[in-house]
Amino acid sequence: PSGVTRDERGALAVAGLSVERIRAEYGTPAYVLDEDDLRSRARDFKAAFAGHDIYYAGKAFLCRAVVRAIDEEGLFLDVCTGGELATALSAGMPPERIGFHGNNKSLSELSRAVDAGVGRIIVDSFDEIDRLTALAREKNIRQAVLVRVTVGVEAHTHEFIATAHEDQKFGFSVGGGAAFKAVCKILDDDVLDLRGLHSHIGSQIFDASGFEVAARRVLALQAQIRDARGVELPEIDLGGGFGIAYTTQDDPSTPADLADRMLKIVDDECAALDLATPKLSIEPGRAIVGPAMFTLYEVGTVKDVDGLRTYVSVDGGMSDNIRTALYDASYSATVAGRASTADPILARVVGKHCESGDIVVKDEFLPADVQPGDLLAVPGTGAYCRSMASNYNHVPRPPVVAVRGGEARVIVRRETEADLLALDVG
Ligand code: LLP
Repeated sequence: PSGVTRDERGALAVAGLSVERIRAEYGTPAYVLDEDDLRSRARDFKAAFAGHDIYYAGKAFLCRAVVRAIDEEGLFLDVCTGGELATALSAGMPPERIGFHGNNKSLSELSRAVDAGVGRIIVDSFDEIDRLTALAREKNIRQAVLVRVTVGVEAHTHEFIATAHEDQKFGFSVGGGAAFKAVCKILDDDVLDLRGLHSHIGSQIFDASGFEVAARRVLALQAQIRDARGVELPEIDLGGGFGIAYTTQDDPSTPADLADRMLKIVDDECAALDLATPKLSIEPGRAIVGPAMFTLYEVGTVKDVDGLRTYVSVDGGMSDNIRTALYDASYSATVAGRASTADPILARVVGKHCESGDIVVKDEFLPADVQPGDLLAVPGTGAYCRSMASNYNHVPRPPVVAVRGGEARVIVRRETEADLLALDVG
């Protein structure tokens, strides 16, 4: 994060607070959030897309303190389950600034969302349209909705997190005609308030041309709807997915670059199709919270394996960061508590779980004198690490410690063995 500095002894500090202090007060492993960094990323998106709406995608990382920060910075919030919705509401997020996603929202989730007055629900299937139409009729409410469409863009990212190709579970296909049918169904029933179309092409995307192709295809459908039904939908949502740098090899776009390209393509296409420019919204998750956190571990063992490489084991692992094992994701690591003049050695940072795939950082050069007791920081762990953390091997999940102006506070406390046992009622 931008608030990280190294002191004269080579120890890292975040917003003026040293990692040693964090270890002493909160223990390891811990996710450390630079709150000003998160807020400034939120503000950068808001400034770049001025006049449009930024929905922070809560799936990347959600807790009440982050909901409040997002609210204070004037962003909107995207939730995709009843649990995320409950977290948002309990933190006081204004419901009209919440969007509700998901390909299989239950009747009870939909009902709660409608009762809470969420600003919009992004509908994802004909079953859901039926369910929501019935609910809205019964409650006599005109719920605002967007229709999620898949535009057939092959986003260059891991296949599990690419979402706009045809053969996957999300949305209504534009090419296959389902999207147009879904729109017609909503317009014919005239119970739901159809505000626009939504497309999300995937996650950790660097090539912004994917968003341009998506915008073009969504707007072509918008024009088709206008021609066939005489309705100009006022909004368009192009989703999230903006890539961040996990290693020095990654070169992400800034919010300003993204805004330039996305706003321009929407303007140009609308001019070409003779459409009024709709209000745009986007849903960045990773790009706001990912770089704002790092994980602080303590090294437990250092093992040289037949001269191949050195395995450096830390006190967490795949339970606090599954992304390396799941997506073959790349991370970096650095000795955080001190400087070293020792030569670099090729190291693999691994966790304490009982399988060999329990890797946090595949390849990293660490100083040859790395040793038990050293602190290790892994940057870029704000998104999809705590939110995808598990209790594998009955390892309690780490806390999230937020630092701002030299002061730290726990915003998600460390799980305890008592927490784990509390669920075990047999
Ligand atoms: N909007 C929708 C509809 C989404 O499905 C997602 C992410 C986002 C926005 C936010 O995408 P972001 O800006 O954070 O890339 N667990 C995976 C990522 C899954 C993303 C799922 N949807 C990972 O760790 O890479």
